Amino acid sequence: MNIKTISSSPYDDQKPGTSGLRKKVTVFQQPHYLANFVQSIFDSLDNCFGQSLVLGGDGRYYNREAIQIIIKIAAANGFNELIIGQGGLLSTPAASHLIRKNKAYGGLILSASHNAGGPTEDFGIKYNISNGGPASEKYTDAFFKRSLEINAYKMAELDDIDLDTQAEFKIKGLKIRIIDPVTDYAELMATIFDFDLLKESISSQYISLCFDAMHAITGPYAKRILEEMLGAPKGTVINGEPLEDFGGGHPDPNLVHAKELAQLMFSDKAPVFAAASDGDGDRNMVLGANIFVTPSDSLAIMAANAHYIPAYSKGIRGVARSMPTSQAVDRVAKAYNLPCFETPTGWKFFGNLLDADKITLCGEESFGSGSNHVREKDGLWAVLFWLNLIAKRRQSVADIVHEHWQKFGRDIYSRHDYEAVDSEIANDIFNHLRELLPTLTGKNFDEYAINYADEFCYQDPIDNSISEQQGIRIGFKNGSRIVFRLSGTGTVGATLRIYLEKFVKEKTEYQQEPQQALANLIELAEQLSEIKQRTGRLEPTVIT
Ligand code: G1P
Ligand code: ZN
Repeated sequence: MNIKTISSSPYDDQKPGTSGLRKKVTVFQQPHYLANFVQSIFDSLDNCFGQSLVLGGDGRYYNREAIQIIIKIAAANGFNELIIGQGGLLSTPAASHLIRKNKAYGGLILSASHNAGGPTEDFGIKYNISNGGPASEKYTDAFFKRSLEINAYKMAELDDIDLDTQAEFKIKGLKIRIIDPVTDYAELMATIFDFDLLKESISSQYISLCFDAMHAITGPYAKRILEEMLGAPKGTVINGEPLEDFGGGHPDPNLVHAKELAQLMFSDKAPVFAAASDGDGDRNMVLGANIFVTPSDSLAIMAANAHYIPAYSKGIRGVARSMPTSQAVDRVAKAYNLPCFETPTGWKFFGNLLDADKITLCGEESFGSGSNHVREKDGLWAVLFWLNLIAKRRQSVADIVHEHWQKFGRDIYSRHDYEAVDSEIANDIFNHLRELLPTLTGKNFDEYAINYADEFCYQDPIDNSISEQQGIRIGFKNGSRIVFRLSGTGTVGATLRIYLEKFVKEKTEYQQEPQQALANLIELAEQLSEIKQRTGRLEPTVIT
């Protein structure tokens, strides 16, 4: 194989964020930009020679071009097998599964998750290690460091590969497998859930459902699993064709961006169950007739009901949640005597706990949940979990949720995002909050007495690595919390997130509308951070 060495000069902005490197497509299209980053990754890994690599993405604009570039760089760096999803497509959880199943050295996943796609929108790339999970900070710091000094990359002189035909072939010693992106993943799901029960519940119409793939990667996965394997009627999956720009929409499954689905579920035509997934298929939003299940509640309910699911029927080892996720799952863990871990935001922090078998289920408030079956969050897995639960308990989503609140209390929850804030202003807000912290403990704001106020720092219990500055927490004596964090996935300015949580025990309080129930906390959060004065914004960009 002929290998060219191509000179380039470093870019200074290739620091991976919460989930890989995300930038505007136009940034990735700059000369050598993607190639520099990919070579920086390969340079930082121990030895790529003779290894196998999984490659695929969510099909967004620039996916195909990026894959052709990566194939040539991977070949030049000594990989001897590339496993690529047909059409260049792989959902993030499916990629994680393929890495594990094939004992690959790692994988490159091309996605900017729930961010919009298209020529002027976002693109992203992230490296996953051999356990199938996102590379930890130890790796991503090394990638960034290398990217700052790189002055050349290697490329094999190969023609572009036909990505659209399933095939297995060799080019000068390099084995390339273009595989069906769905099959292995669908087989895995069938080993976790009771597919016979689901088929029966769907064919008897006990369960009616609607799944919104938001023109993103989960379309083909949901059609195969829900419609073909489980027998849901054709048309159950809406917006099922992956498009490079997601049909102009924002592939973010929440009440704001999956509005149509939310409207259906709060109408008299609502089916028993509805769900949506994001750009790369790792997020999920779950709805029942007249009810939206917050991701934090969903995790808690999964933990409390895991024994109904075949794969977890013998019990779960423990649970974990990201720090800003509500404490609902902590209450379940306490009641069932399960270990419960609080990690920084981002799935990469769950990897060590899953590998060490300390936890079985984990989740984040940002519409993500998953288990030890892969090392990514998994949207369709969560959907199947809920369907299996409804089929087994023979109860509606609303009944399951209400019973849960009755037993454990409810953590009323909301997140307020201020997007595209000037970075300097955002940093000033955080510095201001940091200065306030030592003065807050013991202070009372009406019914809210501050129990602690700190900046979250995490020490990984497995490798002891320390991650600092992971968000500002203000905890109240009544169990409520306010958390401030800066997003690590945005591509324009800074996104400031305020997470609000109020714990209520009384049945009369369960039915409150979250923004109303949280009104005092919201005001307090705004007062402490001075966010309105400092940004000039009158309200958050997105409320979920
Ligand atoms: C966001 C979410 C986080 C999630 C990540 C990747 O990151 O908040 O929970 O892991 O996307 O999907 P953030 O933008 O907050 O850094
Ligand atoms: Zn995603």
